[in-house]
Parts: sequence; structure tokens; C-alpha cells
Amino acid sequence: MNDSNSILKALKALEAEALDAIKTVSETDDLERLRITYMGRKEGSLSVLLRELSTLDSSERPAIGAEVNRVKDIIQNALKEKKSELTPADLIADSIEDLTLPGRFRWMGGIHPVNQVIDEIWQIFRGLGFTRVRGPEVDDEWYNFEALNTPLDHPAADEQDTIYLNIPSPEYLTSPLLRSHTSPVQIRVMESYEPPIRILAPGMVYRRDTSDATHTPAFAQIEGLVIDEGITFLDFKATLAEFARRFWGPDTKIRFRPSFFPFTEPSAEVDVKRQLTMRDGTKVESDWIEIMGAGMVDPNVLENVGYDAERYTGFAFGMGPSRIALLKYGVSDLRLFFENDTRFLAQFSRGPLG
Ligand code: DAH
Repeated sequence: MNDSNSILKALKALEAEALDAIKTVSETDDLERLRITYMGRKEGSLSVLLRELSTLDSSERPAIGAEVNRVKDIIQNALKEKKSELTPADLIADSIEDLTLPGRFRWMGGIHPVNQVIDEIWQIFRGLGFTRVRGPEVDDEWYNFEALNTPLDHPAADEQDTIYLNIPSPEYLTSPLLRSHTSPVQIRVMESYEPPIRILAPGMVYRRDTSDATHTPAFAQIEGLVIDEGITFLDFKATLAEFARRFWGPDTKIRFRPSFFPFTEPSAEVDVKRQLTMRDGTKVESDWIEIMGAGMVDPNVLENVGYDAERYTGFAFGMGPSRIALLKYGVSDLRLFFENDTRFLAQFSRGPLG
């Protein structure tokens, strides 16, 4: 039969011994061994003592029980403190997340699909000896229409439904506007440089259009211009056919449909027919799709910039990279490109850095 005094004494001795042992330990393994020695559920000294409580008179049990709990807390705290002392801060069990989880991928953004297409087209023309240039998005009636052989009462000036700007502008000799096409860059380049000229001018253009699946009021265009002595219709066709084959593949067919633009004569709309490889490997031809307007530069345009139209000839073209991106990626609605929904855009990025 135990009496409460001997249990209290044993508790005191256990407390002192445990605290002492914990203090001197220097390895986590040893600490764990101590935990089992004192706190282990079956053989731990404290559990053994606790079991002896049942031999006490029931009136003595609450007081001794409270004392057992006090010692238990003290030892537990000492173990915990020692453990955090022995463990590097970043490995403390409480603060560890699951180290086996895969790292979190953070999307870093990417190059916009339309810009990817512009870059691809630029790389091809760069290989053909073109220089990349750009002109202002705010321009005026002379550059946007008149210098391009488009009188202001011409249906083209109207048709394009231009956004005019109501700004005082001594800088501009004619009414300022947001350019409705990239063709004014032709004029700006020819004004500043003598032939030979071989330029590609990508940029944004603006029209008074409402958005739908195939129109947006702001969109990208790519202008091309080649001027030199002896440039012929053959150079024109061969250059654009070469571009189409490099962009869509060697089996691509190209055709020139007669058309009209005020700044070219003759003018053409250029269509391509692509070879598509189906999932099962069979090849099919696409429909003819229009990819650009083009033509031989009208002599009036050359004269407007002071070139000798007897000496120089050239060709020009203008295409819509957003439309080409729609075809290339099989996207059915242009607006998806401009809503900036990253769930859509992330599909076009090639890696963490696009
Ligand atoms: N500027 C025309 C448009 O926006 C496209 C164009 C057609 C550009 C023929 C050209 C060209 O350089 O030769 O509709």
C-alpha cells in the first residue's frame, strides 16, 4: 500500500532527475529517448506513477493527481524547449509545411500571341533583308490619306471611319487623327531616306469599329515597303510567295486577286491555301484565305515624297497579324486576344518567361 507522501516524494525526485537529464542532452535522438523514459505511455516513469494513484484512498487522489499533472507539464515544456534549441529554426515541426509537395509554379507572363505572330513574320522578312521601323500612332490627314494618293473625299477615307483627334496641334499641318492603317509609315520613311528601301513596320491602328468576333477598334497591322531601281511585279510576287512558304510551310499555295487601293497600281489581295496535316496524318488543303492587301506603289505616291517615279519602282503590302493569329491558333473570336484573361493567354506562353 502506497501512501501519498511516498508518491509525492517520488514525483519530486522524478521532476528533478528529468529536468537535469533534459538540460544536459545535446542530440535530438537522446532527447527522444528521454521523452520515452519519462513520458512514454506504457513504461514511462510518470505513467507508472500515475497508475499507482489507483492504490490511494479516493480522498487523496485529486491533490496528488494535480501534482502529477504539474510535473507532467513541466517535463513536457522542458522537452519542447530543448527540442527547439536543438533544431534549426526552419525545421521546427510546427512550422514545417509538407516538404514532399511539388513546388508551386508561378506564371511569369508571356509574349502575347499576336506579338508572337508579329515576331515570327518579322524574322522571315529580316531574313529577306528588311529593316524594322515604326511610325507615330497619332498622325494626320496628309500622311494617313493624301500623301497615299487618297483624296479626303475618296470613299476609302470615309470607309475606314477614322478617329479624328480634337487637339490643337501646330505640329500637324492637316487634321490630327489616330492612324487608320500603317501605310503612312511608308510616307514617313520615304521622306527621310533615299532608295533602296526595304522596311517592315508593325504597329497599332485605330478605326471607329465596334468589337465583334472579327473586328476591334484597335488592332495591329504590318506594313511592308520595297523601293529601288528595277523592282518589278515579279519581285513583288516572289517575295510574298517566299514569305507565305516560310510562314505556312513549303506546300502553301498563293494567289493574287486583282483589287484596288489608292496607293498601289496594280493592286492585289493576296490569298493563301494551306496544307493541313490532320491528327491521323492525312493531308488536306484549307480554303483560300485572304492574308493581305498589296500592290506596286503608285507613281503619285513616289512623287508626293519627291522621288523620281521614272527611276524608282516598288511594291507595298499590309497585313493583319491578329487575323493571322486567329488562323494559326484556331481561335474563333478576336476579342479573346484583347480581354487579357490569363487563363486564355497562358496557353500561348512557351515557358515561365514566355
Ligand atoms: N492600308 C491597307 C488597309 O489598311 C492595307 C494595304 C493594302 C497596305 C495595300 C498596303 C497595300 O501597303 O499595298 O486596308
